[in-house]
Amino acid sequence: MNLQPLLEAINDRNVVSGLTHNIYRYPARFSPLFARAAIETFTKPGDTILDPFMGGSTSLVEAIALGRHAIGTDINELSVFLARVKTSVLSKKAVDNLESWAEVIAPELSPRKPVQRHTHWKELGYQNNMPWRFRKIAEQAINHAIDLLDEEVLEAARCIVLKTMQWAVDCKKALPTAAAFREKIVDDARIVARGLHALRESVKTLGGKRGWAEAYLTATDEIDNVNCEALKKKRPKLIVTSPPYPGIHVLYHRWQVLGRRETAAPYWITASNDGNGGSYYTFCDRRRDDHDAKYFERLQRCFTAIRKVVADGCVVAQLVGFCRPDEQLPLYQAAMKAGGFEEFEKTTDQAFWRSVPNRKFYVWLRDSTKQTKELLLLHRAT
Ligand SMILES: C[S@@+](CC[C@H](N)C(=O)[O-])C[C@H]1O[C@@H](n2cnc3c(N)ncnc32)[C@H](O)[C@@H]1O
Repeated sequence: MNLQPLLEAINDRNVVSGLTHNIYRYPARFSPLFARAAIETFTKPGDTILDPFMGGSTSLVEAIALGRHAIGTDINELSVFLARVKTSVLSKKAVDNLESWAEVIAPELSPRKPVQRHTHWKELGYQNNMPWRFRKIAEQAINHAIDLLDEEVLEAARCIVLKTMQWAVDCKKALPTAAAFREKIVDDARIVARGLHALRESVKTLGGKRGWAEAYLTATDEIDNVNCEALKKKRPKLIVTSPPYPGIHVLYHRWQVLGRRETAAPYWITASNDGNGGSYYTFCDRRRDDHDAKYFERLQRCFTAIRKVVADGCVVAQLVGFCRPDEQLPLYQAAMKAGGFEEFEKTTDQAFWRSVPNRKFYVWLRDSTKQTKELLLLHRAT
């Protein structure tokens, strides 16, 4: 088996791009080249792949562009929302309408104008810590989208607001002006439209051999209870995934505004539900003394459930970040084995490791190692 394309892909240093990958910067995304190389190495057109921790749905997008069927699950409703938008194959007319909508509404967006408030989301606390100017602008943009757009593109329009709002407030020391926001939302609409056009064109070239994607909200330890006909009919032959990383905190569910003030605004903008703390999305609170024990217990439960829904011999290609690889890797391997997956390619070679590029990671500082490294692990269902 030629693993060279896969090894080259994990060390690719380019920013995530192409197809609909640029629609939103979901934290800790892996490279589409990695997903593509894994899919091409281990499956044929028409096969089913599964990503049980799909995050920004990188693997789902690559799968359908390659004529595979893809099933993705995640515990985060924001991830399921993104999967729907990023894998929907919209008509040219619908995408053009979306772009025109942004051009029409941009000049209307102003913190000085009155707006019909999103009281439901405010009461849930999802607007807390949002700077009032941008809260108002987002409400205006979403209200216009609800008034002007058909259902099929409404979620894509919410995604444009999400993308521009992330640019405006997340991890920014100073906030942009409303005028800069107006320009940026038009640019972002073009980027989203370009991605959706590219996905449609790419799928078109497959002719009758098109794939499809389905996304479900579930904790992976309960994946065997998901009501997914496709999963029952044709079991996945490949899992391409990145579970939460042991001891490494990633903020999947919040933006950080002006320093460390956190906002749940992504859920309000996408009309999704949150209501959970950070540990909900990372297996376990990194500050607990028994973090590792809890983490690996959960990991094992997840892979035990996954084993029940995949084909015998199903390959798992995963990129996992470790802050203490010497201690954590043997525990990781033990959890995989107990879950029903055997390593088939020894990954001790340096070629399987990659240093993590400039990512928004929060390594548990109790550890001396602040450097995170990711490892490609290859297992097979026994
Ligand atoms: C490293 S991210 C995946 C990123 C993805 N590979 C991408 O390219 O965007 C891990 C994901 O696991 C999800 N997750 C965490 N705990 C989970 C659980 N118990 N069940 C399902 N998903 C979970 C998180 O919400 C997050 O989206």
